[in-house]
Amino acid sequence: MQHIFSAVEITALSKAAHRAGKRIGFVPTMGALHRGHISLVRMARAQSDVVVVSIFVNPAQFGPTEDYAKYPRSLETDSAMLAAEGCDYLFHPTVEEMYPRNADTWVTVEGLSEKLDGHSRPGHFRGVTTVVAKLFNIVQPDFAFFGQKDAAQVAIVTKMVRDLNFDVQIVVCPIVREADGLAMSSRNAYLNADQRKQATVLSRSLMRIQHMSDQGEKDSVKLIAAARQVMAEEPSVRLDYFEIVNAATLDPVPDISDGALVAVAAYFGTIRLIDNLLLL
Ligand code: PAJ
Repeated sequence: MQHIFSAVEITALSKAAHRAGKRIGFVPTMGALHRGHISLVRMARAQSDVVVVSIFVNPAQFGPTEDYAKYPRSLETDSAMLAAEGCDYLFHPTVEEMYPRNADTWVTVEGLSEKLDGHSRPGHFRGVTTVVAKLFNIVQPDFAFFGQKDAAQVAIVTKMVRDLNFDVQIVVCPIVREADGLAMSSRNAYLNADQRKQATVLSRSLMRIQHMSDQGEKDSVKLIAAARQVMAEEPSVRLDYFEIVNAATLDPVPDISDGALVAVAAYFGTIRLIDNLLLL
């Protein structure tokens, strides 16, 4: 696996691979890799000739009071994991490389970016779409792999690709969970022992909805009420949102007859975690 720090260099490698008729699979990440990220890399490995993974903790998607400075960084272990998975290129740019001092251009998917996490994290999705657009231009992938774990991000990046005619196919990969149901996240590392136990309330509340849906309940109001009851079993956990929405528009739906995205976010102390369930 080759480490690449320069945007110009990875673009040149990508162009050479395309000229040789190879298809490039790209997995953008912020590092602190876990099995969730690795599932994306495996999917990329299975579907592409050349696999590029980026590790870039993107300052533009963190709010001023958020965890940019203390976001976990573990380049050595990350790099060993990626080499073991057969990743070809690890693109690891500096902040200066990604954001030259005179850069003034942002990419915003209007409307969608204010929903779900965008509501409680103003500016977050603008940072995500700007960096993902830049990474797509730099890496020029045929396929880009994203986790269903970040369901709003998937909707927004998919919309951006369509609106701006990016020549890249978005591949969405299922949520990877711990044995007790907690969705894997780099931020799980912040949880203390008590919070780690409480955190299973997210998947438990979603499982309640899955169960009710399996039993034929379609009414979003009833489903959310039942899930809120499960959340209330952990009184120290502060709910940010619990919503049942259309997976593409992120607008609330009154019932789940045509499928829906059930999305939850909650604070465990200062640590904000998200989870979701796609009802088909
Ligand atoms: P990061 O949080 O590092 O996640 C990188 C990718 O891994 C995302 O597509 C995310 O959805 C996926 N992922 C994380 N946890 C997962 C899990 N438990 N199961 C399956 N996939 C999982 O998302 C970002 O970085 C950034 O916003 C980024 C797209 C890199 C732009 O900066």
